Parts: sequence; C-alpha cells; structure tokens
Amino acid sequence: MPAPASIDAIQALTEWWGDMGVEVDDATVQAYLKVAEGAAPAAPAVSPTPVRRPRRKKVDWVEEARNAAAACDSVEALKAAIEAFEGSPLKAAAEKTAVYDGTPGASLMVIGEGPGPEEDRRGVPFVGPAGQLLDRMLAAIQRDRKENAFITNVNYWRPPGNRNPEAEELAVCRPFVDRMIELTQPKVIIAAGGVPAKSLLASSDGIMRLRGTEHVYKTAGGFAAPLIPILHPAYLLRRPQDKSRAWRDLLLVEQRLGELGG
Ligand code: URA
Repeated sequence: MPAPASIDAIQALTEWWGDMGVEVDDATVQAYLKVAEGAAPAAPAVSPTPVRRPRRKKVDWVEEARNAAAACDSVEALKAAIEAFEGSPLKAAAEKTAVYDGTPGASLMVIGEGPGPEEDRRGVPFVGPAGQLLDRMLAAIQRDRKENAFITNVNYWRPPGNRNPEAEELAVCRPFVDRMIELTQPKVIIAAGGVPAKSLLASSDGIMRLRGTEHVYKTAGGFAAPLIPILHPAYLLRRPQDKSRAWRDLLLVEQRLGELGG
C-alpha cells in the first residue's frame, strides 16, 4: 500500500532539508509522520477478491425433450410429459397444450400442424372447423377418431396470431412426436398440410409436390411407416375446388391400409 501523499511530502521535505545542511529534529519529524499516518485510511486486512458467479448453463431443450420422451412407456405418460414440458417458446402464450385425440394404437395416424384457436381453448387437436372437415374426410375412408384413427400434431401449442410454427419450435416437439409414433405403431401416417409434411420429411418442397405419393417416415428410435401427405383441411375450406386432389390422396391411404392389414 503506497504511503499517503502527506507522508511522502514530509519524507521529501526532510531529505531536502538534510541535503541543504539544515539540522532536522528527528522527534519532530516522527511526530509529523504519526499524525500523517493517522489520517491515512487503514489498509484492509485481506485484499478483496473478485466474486465469480458460475455462468448459468444454457438448457438444451431438444435434449431435455429427448430424455423426457424416452422415459415414457405409455401414451398417457407421454401426454403428461408433453404437458409438463417447459421448452417450447410458444407455451407461455398458449392457453392449453393440445396433444392428441382419437384411438391410441389405431392403424391410421393423422399428424397436423398445431392447435388453432378452438384447439387452444379446448386442449384437443382438430376440433375447430378444419377438424370437422377432417372428420368428414376420414369418414369417406371408413375412419373415425373414436374407433380407428389417432390424431396429433407436430407442435402442441398455438403460435401467436396463428402463424406457422418455426423450425426451433418444431424441433423441441419432435422427440415427443417420434415417441408417440413408436408407442402407437401406426401402419400409415397422414401428414395433413405442408408444415408437418415438410418438417417430417425434412424437405423444402411444398405440399403440392409432396402430396400424391407415398414417402417413408423413420423415427429417431428406428420405427418406420409409410407417410402420405395430403392437403390441409383448412386449405380445402378456402379452396374447395382442390378437394378432388385430397380425395385421390385419401384413396391412396385407404389402399395402403388395406395392403398392410390395417
Ligand atoms: N390444424 C392443425 O393442423 N391441427 C389442429 O389441431 C387444428 C388445426
């Protein structure tokens, strides 16, 4: 700790007097120094050490979702895990989590885009106007969610303003989607609309290119099933003239289910 300026000044003055041949009274100098030292702030007994706060580790929500999904051995447990999951940025603004509806273990699984306003209010997928059309489309191939169809989405929380879910929002849901497929083992999967079709097939092609043919979806755990993209019922409500395309795709679904014993 450097001496205070006044001590320095006394010492410098004493040396200068000595150089000039002036007799210096040592007792007086010591008395001055004592006074100056008393004015100096006491040095701390222990020098302060900077406190290092541990950096908070960024949560890897996809990894969290993978672990949570892998721990589930039933559809009910998986639904509870999805509802408890805090890793989607959409959850805070959503009213409810919409996981699935219909018959777990049915040979046909429909995967949509995500909840709209009615689904958000009720916490059940495809219960608004698009869901009602979906029910009529399924009925045309003798499918009913109460008996032989299972309905879910690639995202479980309604995006604000009904925008499309973003890639990261879909990524945190994917382990749950995969686990749902592995637990229910559908024979055929319908991807309803461009969002689930593009996301599940990791394709940049639009729904008009992807529909009309069969693809294969393989989960991270290795379960594979035919995936048939169809036009989204909400789109068909706006463009009923495209219903003939949807009808052709549904016939393909029916045919594949027949071939696969579903
Ligand atoms: N549209 C979807 O894709 N899913 C729903 O659950 C409702 C509307």
